[in-house]
Amino acid sequence: MSSLFINEEQLASMVEAARPVAAQGTVASYIPALSEADPNHFGCVIYNGSDTIKAGETDALFTLQSVSKILSLALALIDQGEDTVFSKVGMEPTGDPFYTVQALEEEKPSKPLNPMINAGALVVTSLLPGKTESEKISRFLTFIRELTGNPSIAVCEKTAASEKEHADLNRALCYFMKSHDVLKEDVEMILNVYIKQCSILLNCEDLARIGSIIGNNGVDPASKKSIMPPHIAKIVTTFMITCGMYNESGSFAIKAGIPTKSGVSGALLSGLKNGTGIGVYSPPLDNKGNSAAGIHFLESLSNVYNLSIF
Ligand code: DON
Repeated sequence: MSSLFINEEQLASMVEAARPVAAQGTVASYIPALSEADPNHFGCVIYNGSDTIKAGETDALFTLQSVSKILSLALALIDQGEDTVFSKVGMEPTGDPFYTVQALEEEKPSKPLNPMINAGALVVTSLLPGKTESEKISRFLTFIRELTGNPSIAVCEKTAASEKEHADLNRALCYFMKSHDVLKEDVEMILNVYIKQCSILLNCEDLARIGSIIGNNGVDPASKKSIMPPHIAKIVTTFMITCGMYNESGSFAIKAGIPTKSGVSGALLSGLKNGTGIGVYSPPLDNKGNSAAGIHFLESLSNVYNLSIF
């Protein structure tokens, strides 16, 4: 008997019910490598440390993209502490899209509103442990390997190179913040680390494993090893609720109420409070940059199995 709230057959039928919604979305193309994703792929893995169930194309590999923002935040908080991190980036949600520039100009003193918008995530990348690009990315990769229990996790260099050629908006955000002393480091170095953290390649099971640890107060539910302190898992979970789906966070909190972080690859990582992680992948995005069918699926799953934390 599985200890999960759902069995594999039930999961398969929910995945099939959500699949057609992908037709309402569009695969991201502003990073050209992302446009090569198969729009028909839809995968979901649910894991709680003892049981794993899968449905759909769960072998598909994709990049972390903005899902990396909760994980870089966790590592920066572990390394630098709350006071330092939140002196450079705020805690407030924004109704603006993830690439917003406007809010930076309005805040006095200038600091990004939260670590989930690109400006805030770029500042968090500057706070990752290590001084050089290779030190920072290798510390981050080590953290992701610990969280997933997957030692072969690596950067997709092709996606990174593709993003690098189309990174002028993120570059502009960095220079704006540098001119306001929010960012002190070399802009190209920070941009390279950020692009690589976004280009880490994984699958739905890796996402579900990370979600189970976040949901389980930072403790790996299988090995019982603490990967992040409980207060940091709590901060990360709170940001997932308030800012994890950008300017769709409010409606998703009402309709699903599951702490979730999205990425433009079509990835969704959710962590439930009982230490159950959910990894979803479906590349076509809605107009807010979140996986269209993935959101529909999580909302239905939450309604049927009563998963809202509220
Ligand atoms: O910086 C970017 O634009 C991408 N590397 C990540 C953006 C992203 O995933 C937004 N999420 N939905």
